[in-house]
Amino acid sequence: MRARWGLLALVAAVAVAENGLSGWLRYAPLPDGQRQQYASSLPSHIVALNSTSTSPVYTAGQELQDGIQRILGRKLKISQEHSAWTSFNSSFVLVGTLSAYDKLGSQNLSTDLVPDGFWLNIKGGAVTIVGQNGRGALYGAFEYLSRIAQGNFADADIVSNPDAPIRWVNEWDNMDGTIERGYAGRSIFFANGSVATDLTRVSQYARLLASVRINGIVVNNVNANPRMLTNETIAGLKRIADSMRPYGVRVGISLNFASPGPDGLKETATFDPLDPTVIAWWEAKTNQIYQQIPDWAGYLVKANSEGQPGPLTYNRTLADGANLFARALRPHGGIIMFRAFVYNSNMNPAVWKDDRANAAYDFFKELDGEFLDNVIVQIKYGPIDFQVREPASPLFAHLPNTNAAIELQITQEYLGQQDHLVYTPPLWKTILDFDMRVGGKPSLVRDIVSGQRFNRTLGGYAGVVNVGTNPNWLGSHLAMSNLYAYGRLAWDPTGDVQSLLQDWIRLTFGSEPSVVKVITDISMASWPAYENYTGNLGIQTLTDILYTHFGPCPQCQENRWGQWTRADKSTIGMDRTVSNGTGNSGQYPPEVAAVFENLETTPDNLLLWFHHVNYTHRLHSGKTVIQHFYDAHYDGAAAAQTFVPAWQSLQGKVDGARFDDVLFKLRFQAGHALVWRDAVAGYYYNLSGIADEASRVGHHPYRIEAESMALSGGYRPVAVDPFEAASNSTAIVVGSGPNNNGSGEAATVLDFPLGTYDIAVGYFDVAGGRAHYGAFLNGEPLHEWYGDLEDHLGHEFSTKLDAHSATRITIPNVDVKRGDVLKIIGLADGNEGAPLDYVAILPKGVVD
Ligand code: GCU
Repeated sequence: MRARWGLLALVAAVAVAENGLSGWLRYAPLPDGQRQQYASSLPSHIVALNSTSTSPVYTAGQELQDGIQRILGRKLKISQEHSAWTSFNSSFVLVGTLSAYDKLGSQNLSTDLVPDGFWLNIKGGAVTIVGQNGRGALYGAFEYLSRIAQGNFADADIVSNPDAPIRWVNEWDNMDGTIERGYAGRSIFFANGSVATDLTRVSQYARLLASVRINGIVVNNVNANPRMLTNETIAGLKRIADSMRPYGVRVGISLNFASPGPDGLKETATFDPLDPTVIAWWEAKTNQIYQQIPDWAGYLVKANSEGQPGPLTYNRTLADGANLFARALRPHGGIIMFRAFVYNSNMNPAVWKDDRANAAYDFFKELDGEFLDNVIVQIKYGPIDFQVREPASPLFAHLPNTNAAIELQITQEYLGQQDHLVYTPPLWKTILDFDMRVGGKPSLVRDIVSGQRFNRTLGGYAGVVNVGTNPNWLGSHLAMSNLYAYGRLAWDPTGDVQSLLQDWIRLTFGSEPSVVKVITDISMASWPAYENYTGNLGIQTLTDILYTHFGPCPQCQENRWGQWTRADKSTIGMDRTVSNGTGNSGQYPPEVAAVFENLETTPDNLLLWFHHVNYTHRLHSGKTVIQHFYDAHYDGAAAAQTFVPAWQSLQGKVDGARFDDVLFKLRFQAGHALVWRDAVAGYYYNLSGIADEASRVGHHPYRIEAESMALSGGYRPVAVDPFEAASNSTAIVVGSGPNNNGSGEAATVLDFPLGTYDIAVGYFDVAGGRAHYGAFLNGEPLHEWYGDLEDHLGHEFSTKLDAHSATRITIPNVDVKRGDVLKIIGLADGNEGAPLDYVAILPKGVVD
């Protein structure tokens, strides 16, 4: 049945395929001109002051050798001998730790290096890289390579120290090989209930992480399996730690709080954190781990949250719970990251004063000072859950006597699941640069988590990543900029997000100016666009939080999970004021609280986070709330359309494989941004009855609804639920059930003047079937395609007709005249009844 109309061209793969496996560490050869220009000022040897193959200094030597060879075409010899360096001329790269360097007696380094920090001195071909420790030496080597890979051969003398000691990633991998909120294939760490046998990808991942100065990883899901602590798994974890050690990445795991008890490994009668048998169990288990993995990083714990067990079960405090692990880890120098993501996920939206956003403060504020020194409270950046915009979590302001870390999400769970381009560092910056004004003094979130503001020695960053077996790690080439920038910001949160992005672009795609410009432009435009078409004014990402977290579902908000909008026919927004609402604004220190309490001083972009207002309320911009919704959705979706031609302008400047992959995703995003626009704008228009001043919402002059076409064969109209997911709330499908193999035809006579048009087809692509479509004009085939996005995209798929499965394709440049007959033939497959929503006949430049 496939290619039944013979239109699916077999395209030979011509360009050298780049699959993204090396990420930003491609070390592509510099152009010949540049290579020659610098040939005379290059190092001639590498001296790596450590010969142990598991040492990051050794790795640095190998990495320098490999990188320089690939970038500059010259293979340098490596020597590990301390004495060897004196016999070379001055033109060599020396890399080592501070103590090894001191032993050379060459010169005293007067710079202040803190752990992981490095000194990099470049004088022509004489390059000195000294790390405070081995990890720092490796980071310095990567910094040097990053410079020359970008064609930067300038002399330099820099000391670089980390802003915070904890710079970790959290993977949400399950032992069966699936990944919670993973959009890039299966786990690289686990398969079939055990640690994976082949850990090649794990060490490749460690290399990427080290290059952006990440020093720790938690390899399993926060919703943790007690079997992470069996002898067999610990032996597997040792192998993971061995694979990552040469890159200075220390390994830890998420714990299930009830692991020893009756619902876990059944080795104790309880999991009460104060019970002596439980304490002894965790001590012994921790000792066992350290015996096998002496540089073990520690633990991460999600307790009493979303159904996970925790100390509250026994009326113990969360601090009692955290300290249980802290005591077991302390003798070994390990740390415990204890998540502040604790809330009641059984709330009642009818209770006006209830608010999930209050939970972290309510649970943790009073515990300040009760956590041991090796506990770090890990706080999600906002009070709810990785939404497209949130204020900074108020909890950051209230733990002056506790170590704190910020949890960011590189995984785009609520931000398009790596099938929409969203460069997230500008969002993170709104939080990191936010001033809490604790005690009336400057108190930036970044200075709180670094430990500087409250004089804490521990603190930092945890980034949820969820890489998978997909060769390009995140399932999206462009999404890798988020991982790159995450590491760099964790090192230096004052970094400029656009220059970090451009470093990443040059390393990943080359330095051709138009390549740098286009990827910069679309990436920097992407978060504002996504916010515009998904959820404005602080209303959050208006997705279906009970299901996929992917597409729009503005009507799915008010449920027990607490991400509420409180929208009704005339009003919208959470009243979080102290005077009349949930009191959340009062959780901020007084200066900030005053700003958020007051409607007038609350910034427009957080208005509906803090206030419940009429749709006709006027913003500082002068627009009403509802008109802002409409305009923003149209603007955001329009911006997403521009990403496609912008990327297409790079054809021939980016290798074919990555060019095609990115283009496919951007086209999908352009179509799905329209699904978002129409669902959200349509929903609030329907609810409020307030017309769009520009008369766009609900008007689609270029569309022909599938249900109004002439239907034959098996096609019949169906009402789509939620109604806002389909144009005119109705689609057509063929047959029903799981083994659907019917077919149908939908035809229409076009009434458009002679011209060249783009023909867009709105349809649904559900999981579990690959329907086959053909479009014909006057009986001549125009295009054929399959409903097989699940084979090409990574987001969570829906099994129903809804706004997660709604999508569209565009057939460009079709010559049309009045009276032409457009026909779509649909062949059902599996449970996919070749669902069609509409066709749109679009004059050039029109988006409908
Ligand atoms: C979100 C996410 C869950 C995850 C949770 C967490 O709610 O959807 O999958 O377990 O956050 O961070 O613990």
